[in-house]
Amino acid sequence: MKITWLGHAAFLIEGESRILIDPFISGNPMAPCKAEEIECDIICVTHGHGDHLGDAIPIAKKNSAPIIAIHEIARYAVKHGVEGIGANLGGSVELKGIRFTMVQAWHSSGIDASGFGFSGGDPAGFIISTQKVLYHAGDTCIFSDMKLIGELYKPQISFLPIGDRFTMNPEHAAKAASWIKSDIVIPMHYNTFPPVAQNPSEFKSLVESLCDSEVVICEVGKAVEV
Ligand code: NI
Ligand code: MN
Repeated sequence: MKITWLGHAAFLIEGESRILIDPFISGNPMAPCKAEEIECDIICVTHGHGDHLGDAIPIAKKNSAPIIAIHEIARYAVKHGVEGIGANLGGSVELKGIRFTMVQAWHSSGIDASGFGFSGGDPAGFIISTQKVLYHAGDTCIFSDMKLIGELYKPQISFLPIGDRFTMNPEHAAKAASWIKSDIVIPMHYNTFPPVAQNPSEFKSLVESLCDSEVVICEVGKAVEV
């Protein structure tokens, strides 16, 4: 299975199917490619903010790929002429043999479109059960139910935001990693813009001082085999 970081919270997971998460490509200074170049089978969107919903609609159109998201964002997708598969916190949908479960995230989720925000429902994280179990936390602060997420789903790979300002900072994310206990932790949502500047090596040392998880610092556009 291959994981490619596309900058910020965007990842392309290539296994049984090609899963694209939070495709913020246009306007993302770290993006290694153009939105039109991305090929995928399924898109997951954690919440409505522009740096997550991003290019999901045009990419979904071009690839005839469904968007899995919270009910309100799935309806937004349908209104924009693409397949939207709605779910909600604690619920799962199965697509092409892969199970997608939505889990809570503590954040906000207004859709930033047409110059104003409107409700994108609640923000979420995803548990994706494919060859490995993945946990993409979305944008969130730390919360103690991350222990429960670790216990219930036993994710082998976790994607955690470390940028601070809008999400957890490295210290909180390291504490979260020690609760989730996945084999691999991948930091995200940092260094895209000055307000989320962080040193991922410091995060790596923090995590590895607290638990046995290995921190893999991805390079944008460079696939990591897991
Ligand atoms: Ni956000
Ligand atoms: Mn964000």
